[in-house]
Formats: sequence, structure tokens, C-alpha cells
Amino acid sequence: MVESWATLGVDLHLEPTGAGGLRRGLTDALREAVRTGRLAPGTRLPSSRSLAADLGIARNTVAEAYAELVAEGWLTARQGSGTRVAEGAAAVPPSGRGQVPGRGVAPRRVEPARPTYSLVPGVPDLAAFPRAAWLKAARRALTTTPYQALGYGDPRGHPDLRTALAGYLARVRGVRTDPERVLITSGFAHALHLTGTLLRARGVRTVAVESYGLDAYWGLLQRSGLATPALPYDELGTDTRALGEQGAVMLTPAHQFPMGTLLHPDRRAAVVDWARRTGGLILEDDYDGEFRYDRQPVGALQGLDPDRVIYFGTASKSLAPGLRLGWMVLPPSLAEEAASVKGGTDTVGVLEQLTLAEFITSGAYDRHVRSSRLRYRRRRDALAAAVSARAPEVTVTGIAAGLHAVLRLPTGLEQSVIQAAAWQGLALHGLARHRHEQAVAEPLDALVVGYATLPDSAWAGALEALCRVLP
Ligand SMILES: Cc1ncc(COP(=O)(O)O)c(C=O)c1O
Repeated sequence: MVESWATLGVDLHLEPTGAGGLRRGLTDALREAVRTGRLAPGTRLPSSRSLAADLGIARNTVAEAYAELVAEGWLTARQGSGTRVAEGAAAVPPSGRGQVPGRGVAPRRVEPARPTYSLVPGVPDLAAFPRAAWLKAARRALTTTPYQALGYGDPRGHPDLRTALAGYLARVRGVRTDPERVLITSGFAHALHLTGTLLRARGVRTVAVESYGLDAYWGLLQRSGLATPALPYDELGTDTRALGEQGAVMLTPAHQFPMGTLLHPDRRAAVVDWARRTGGLILEDDYDGEFRYDRQPVGALQGLDPDRVIYFGTASKSLAPGLRLGWMVLPPSLAEEAASVKGGTDTVGVLEQLTLAEFITSGAYDRHVRSSRLRYRRRRDALAAAVSARAPEVTVTGIAAGLHAVLRLPTGLEQSVIQAAAWQGLALHGLARHRHEQAVAEPLDALVVGYATLPDSAWAGALEALCRVLP
């Protein structure tokens, strides 16, 4: 293929070789043009869209070729000035370190820059951890707790925390429980591990899971000897009609992770009905239920049938994952067995537990959640506005709740956008990594953008970097 590259405003012929694919050919041809000086330093290249149109190839192919050459130091990409030939590129490319391209030595491939920004989902804004309020609660807990509390204690967790959580969960999430059925764990992961052991010991062999989720959790269940087949997913959420005699199903009903949808009321009712009919159990992962922006929080599924649902909550989104504090609410028939599976050896430090109990009962937890919700909501709105203004081909979904959004991309672009972002120092996750290998769901190219993760000071820069790499 020989093309006159009129858009460049220079008399240049590109001769992608075709060997190794179109992208490779285009990258090599461009590199050669820069190396030999046919493209002078500072020359502005056409947008990927117009070059793709000129060459009659996919825009993605051009974007990837540009991104690779930016990473190698032959080109630069800056907001407002587009993609240009790097200054001094023809002599010594920045990444070539000592190699002289003019002598035919290929520049060394460089790895993407260390991320400057991360929009990876899963973590709240840790810089906003309420240190002063937490310290106050810790001081008060330590001052008022009798010395006996510092012994081995109840393996289910300290009664003060179980009582505080039972009240909080009833008030905020509609969970029906008493403190006797609350179990304190070291986060959701620990709780799920305990549950896997418990289910296996009861003869359960299968826990059906959602088509999208976190493979770390599927892996935890698998390591307990449980099979984790995927259920179909569509716009109403996870469809549990296919559940047969499986012993259990794990769901994120209030905010599907990562798709961000709310399980449709009919589907909520249907899964409870299945559990009643078959004696099955529902594992409800309510990881960010407090963060609903557009309406009142949707109550926990557990409220529909406390006998058939094991409810899981965590402080990882509302406070910080480093606290390693989570909780389970068990059906009455399982509470004792779960406590004995947990035993007395893997408990959570009592001072942390008492601090959280004080934090909740003093109202500090509610205040922190309220102020976090407000800040995250502003970020969510800014993200949706920026994407719709600057990347009209991208649709922002799953934003009624939670700490992340799903940005749907034109087909085939997920990996190249992630790669282009990495080269610009922006860490992003795609939807593909959350897709179950047997997923029954329409394949989608999308980014899962965690907009809560960064401190306020870095948010605007990260959003700008994101918009730059979106198609
Ligand atoms: C879907 C989901 N569930 C639960 C959790 C919380 O896990 P843990 O409490 O172990 O930190 C997370 C955290 O990333 C999550 O994404």
C-alpha cells in the first residue's frame, strides 16, 4: 500500500509493509519516516480519525501505532497540540538512550510510564479517611472499655460492634437481624472464605455467580471445593431463572459489580422464591450499598427473607480496605455453625472493633458516609459531563450508585484505550477482566472507572487524562 499523506501537509509516502499486520506496518513506516527525517521534529500529525480515513483503515489501528511511537519516544501526544514528531527524534529518541536511530538501530522498547493517576475501581478516597473522628472514637473506646475486653473474647466479634452493626444495618439497609447473628470478619474476602468452608461442610457443591464480578472471589469459593458457574446477565440484572438445585448463589443486588445495575424487583423476588422452594442460600454482597445518589438507597435483599440470605458488608468502601473490617449476617439456622467454623483463632483486633462500634454509635459513620456521598456524587457528575462533551461515542452507565462507572466504548477499543492510557501514566481497568469465562452476556467493550479512588487534588488531572485517551 502506497498512500500520499496529504493531510500532513508534507510530501510523504507511507509504505506500510503489510508484514506482521497493518498496525505493525504502519508503525514501522511512521517510525522510518521520523527516523530518516522525512517527518521533521515538531510536525503535527493528523488526528487518528482523519489518517484512518485517508488510509482506509480502522482508527484503532492508527491510535495504537501512535501510542506505540509515543511510548518509544518518536512522537509526543499533548492535550491541545495533538500528536507531533518529538523534538530531536531524528537524532536520538528519548527512549533510545544512546542509540542513534539514524544509524539504523531500533530504539529500545520502553514499558508504559509508572502510573501517575489511577482510575482503577475498588478503593475509596483514602486521603479523605476521617482520621480525626476515627482517633476520637479510638480514644473514647480505649478509655471506656473495661480491661476484660482485651482478652480473647467472643469469636463472633465484640458484642458492642455486633450490636452497633445490627442497629445500623436495620436502619440504613433494611437488614433484619439481632446481634447474635452478626459475625465480624476481616473484610468480605475473609467472610467469603468462611462461607465457602461452611457450605462445603454442609455438602453444597455449587455456588452460581454473576457473569460479571471479581475472579478473586470466584477463586476463593473454588479453593473451598465449590464450582462457580455463571448465570445470564442482561439489562434487568442477573437472571436466576436458570438456577436448578444448586445449593447457593452469590449476587450483588444493590449495585451489580462491576456493571452498576440494580437487580430488577421481579428478579429479586424470583431469587428469593427459588431459595424458598429449593432450600438454597443467597449470598448477598452489599459492598457499597450506602452510596446511592439518585434515590433513596435500595434495601438489602436480606430483608425479604433473613432465613435464606447470608448478608455481607464491609468497611472497605465506606472507610478504607486497610482496616480489614467486614461483617456477615447469618440466617438463624447457620449462625452457630458459622461461629464454630470461624473459631477463636482468626478474629479481628478488638480495639479496631471497639473503635468502629464507637464510630457508628456516635454518628460519625453516618456523617462520613454522607460527606463522602456528596463528594463522590460531584465527581460522578463531572465524569458524566466531561465524557459526554468530549467523547460522544462513549456512554457512561451504572452511575446511580457506587464508586465506579462503566464507560461503554465502540466495539474493539477496550484494550487499545487501556494501553494508550498506560502510556500516558493513567491506570485503567477494562470490563474484560471482570467477565466470567463462561459468561452469558452480550460482549461489551468498556472501562470500569473508579472515580472515588484519587484524592481531590488529583481528580481533575485524572479526568483530563481519561478524556484524552477516549475515542
Ligand atoms: C464486589 C466487591 N465486594 C466486596 C468488596 C470488599 O472486599 P473486602 O471487604 O474484602 O475488602 C469489594 C472490594 O473491592 C468488591 O469490589
